[in-house]
Amino acid sequence: MGEGVLKRPFSRVDGELCCGGVRAADLAERFGTPLYVYDVRRMEERVRAFHVAFRDIDHLIAYSVKANGNLSILRRLSAAGCGADITSRGELFRALRAGIAPGAIVFAGVGKTKAEIAAALEEGIYAFNVESAGELERIDEVASELGLCARFGIRVNPDVFADTPHEYTRTGTATTKFGVPWEETRDLYRWARDRSSLDPVGIDMHIGSQIVDSEPYVRALERVLTLVSELGREGIVLEYLDIGGGFGIPYDVESGMDVDALAAEVVPRVKAAGLKLILEPGRSIVGDAGILLTRVEYVKRSRKKVFVVVDGGMTELIRPSHYGGYHAIEAVSDGHSGEDVEVDVVGPICETGDFLARGRIMRVPEPGELLAVHTVGAYGFAMASNYNGRQRPAEVMVNGSEVTVIRKRETLEDLVRGEE
Ligand code: LLP
Repeated sequence: MGEGVLKRPFSRVDGELCCGGVRAADLAERFGTPLYVYDVRRMEERVRAFHVAFRDIDHLIAYSVKANGNLSILRRLSAAGCGADITSRGELFRALRAGIAPGAIVFAGVGKTKAEIAAALEEGIYAFNVESAGELERIDEVASELGLCARFGIRVNPDVFADTPHEYTRTGTATTKFGVPWEETRDLYRWARDRSSLDPVGIDMHIGSQIVDSEPYVRALERVLTLVSELGREGIVLEYLDIGGGFGIPYDVESGMDVDALAAEVVPRVKAAGLKLILEPGRSIVGDAGILLTRVEYVKRSRKKVFVVVDGGMTELIRPSHYGGYHAIEAVSDGHSGEDVEVDVVGPICETGDFLARGRIMRVPEPGELLAVHTVGAYGFAMASNYNGRQRPAEVMVNGSEVTVIRKRETLEDLVRGEE
């Protein structure tokens, strides 16, 4: 089994859940709960797995900043050899602030504003991944105003279905807002060819998120590569192919994407086309390297249910509520006993949709006990909110036995900053 296959990183020592060489309970004691805890070595290990799997082709791992954009994490991933996939001015700012080279940044998103386009051009990003004809016209306009030439690839909507766990994370079919319909792509490149402010250098796809099988990637890739050769015959010779991200990881008992198996399919095809390969993994780099520590406040019983009320909820992890996402939950310390029953693990937010798990079979924890919610490194903090006047939790990075607070817990003053 290669490094391409995932195993869960947090282990138990003497019955105590640990991150690297540090007890999770000690972190909760020191920094309070709820608390995001990240194992940075795990993230670096994941980057290495991608580099190794794709070593036979010139490649760029453009880490998808939206999964977790913390500056310290970006800095470590940059040092491990990642560029960035960004989707806004704010993510450009983060990526640059973390020291990621502009030449290693690709910019996706269906709604790029003029100001965002101008900023990315002035910084000299590697390329725009363009999602519509209107956007390409706008990039042309902004680039010519600035006297610059915009490097771009078209994000092709290949109309390929990828079976992700939720419809909201499917992006590769014609019914989603993403990309340019593949039948219209060629004309758009032709239009751009003669414009001095546009340089067609690549082609892009991103078919969805939490995909565990390489088959839909191959189907979409075949379609994109057909376009590449057609364009080549017309003298439009591209330099990169971006296959996007979306590589799945195990949340429950299911397996994640085997990155080695994916590479075995993708590398020969892209290499034969003479293209540099760009990948945009987010979740598969940081997802399983993070846990959320949360403390039980109450155990509440209704006639029909047992509710474990904890101090973290949909404001810290919206995935269960928004996508029906499953996250493993376990007690941080062994040493309690009791029968397994069915419970709902819920947060303090005033919404019936505020839960971390529903109908979960587990021992009923005691008030005061600490729980760890797994696989929150991606789209955990990144999607956190201040709803219900919540202060977003601290984020802590663990490197072996070294612990760093990489984002402070928000204060009450933070909640009202900028308000009159
Ligand atoms: N590239 C593009 C253009 C994307 O839109 C995304 C994710 C990625 C790369 C990275 O995908 P990843 O490797 O992380 O799956 N909030 C959802 C996931 C939404 C993903 C949006 N785009 C969730 O919590 O499952």
